[in-house]
Amino acid sequence: MAITLERILISDPVDDVCANLLRSAGLEVRQKNKLTQEQLIQELQDVEALIVRSETKVRADILAAAPKLRVVGRAGTGVDNIDVEAATKKGIIVLNTPGGNSISACELTCALIVALARNVTSGCQSLKEGRWDRKLYTGEELSGKTLAVLGLGRIGREVAARMKGFGMRIVGFDPIVTAEAAAAIGIEKMDLPQIWPVADYVTVHTPLIPQTKNLINEDTLNKCKPGVKIVNVARGGIVDEKALHAALKDGRCGGAALDVWTEEPPKSEWLYDLIKHPKVIATPHLGASTVEAQKRVAVEMAEQIISLAKPGEAIPGV
Ligand code: NAD
Ligand code: MLT
Repeated sequence: MAITLERILISDPVDDVCANLLRSAGLEVRQKNKLTQEQLIQELQDVEALIVRSETKVRADILAAAPKLRVVGRAGTGVDNIDVEAATKKGIIVLNTPGGNSISACELTCALIVALARNVTSGCQSLKEGRWDRKLYTGEELSGKTLAVLGLGRIGREVAARMKGFGMRIVGFDPIVTAEAAAAIGIEKMDLPQIWPVADYVTVHTPLIPQTKNLINEDTLNKCKPGVKIVNVARGGIVDEKALHAALKDGRCGGAALDVWTEEPPKSEWLYDLIKHPKVIATPHLGASTVEAQKRVAVEMAEQIISLAKPGEAIPGV
């Protein structure tokens, strides 16, 4: 059964292919970015669907103030910027596009692991500043090192497959993946206490949920090999940023590459201190920022909205 979906607001930068497909299906689309909370509420008065990326925070008070809203769509994977519980209570459907950006997030993770091993960003910065510091930026080979992948879902397993090509031993943990299933994709499943002392690199690929908040913390960093390197292209908060900074300062952690933050964009001075640490590679949530991923998630979101508004009709142009 179709639900009434005639007007749609896109409130974050989503590839134009999304709006174009929706318009071709006869739906009315408004695209407005960087709205204040008041402006967002005003824009939501007459729309049945809202499409966001990660900038718009779809809190319970926003949902309560949107009388006609029936659908919230996230052009991406994580729905942690949407109050799903409040939406469900109000009968609002929450959609996402899992998988549309997995390869892009995986490739950024692999790039960051290689960049950490070979001091790519610091060597580049130093040369741009006029220094020729070859000795200072001596790196290490990845071949023969152990990579721990925490979260063996869509992205984690793609990272494992690619880093195996560098000759790394891959160990991993995921509560719903059996040792046999992990072994079938070349990963040695271990429990977390076994992982900390063997990993040279740890990369996290879980959702941010109570069980994964501060998964990498003071205590777990203390259990790791001295000089362990940490990568987070999943969600800010899975790695405890203050504990990580302390471990970087005293050498327990040998480097970190972070794409996601507990504050996006970061505002606090203490967080900027971490970003500026010489052994930190910091990117502004770029995991899904490729032409291919953005087109893919935009098309997938439009297809889902059209199939709710006009079930059974062919998707125009797809
Ligand atoms: P997924 O759902 O396919 O995989 C997540 C895996 O984590 C699941 O297999 C789950 O069982 C596992 N998991 C849950 N709790 C765990 C725990 N306590 N310990 C270990 N594993 C646990 O998700 P995905 O598509 O691979 O995405 C992974 C993360 O990457 C998500 O947080 C997602 O929002 C994020 N992401 C970030 C970007 C970016 O731009 N940086 C892009 C895409 C996705
Ligand atoms: C996601 O969960 O899909 C990512 O955070 C990517 C995005 O920025 O949309």
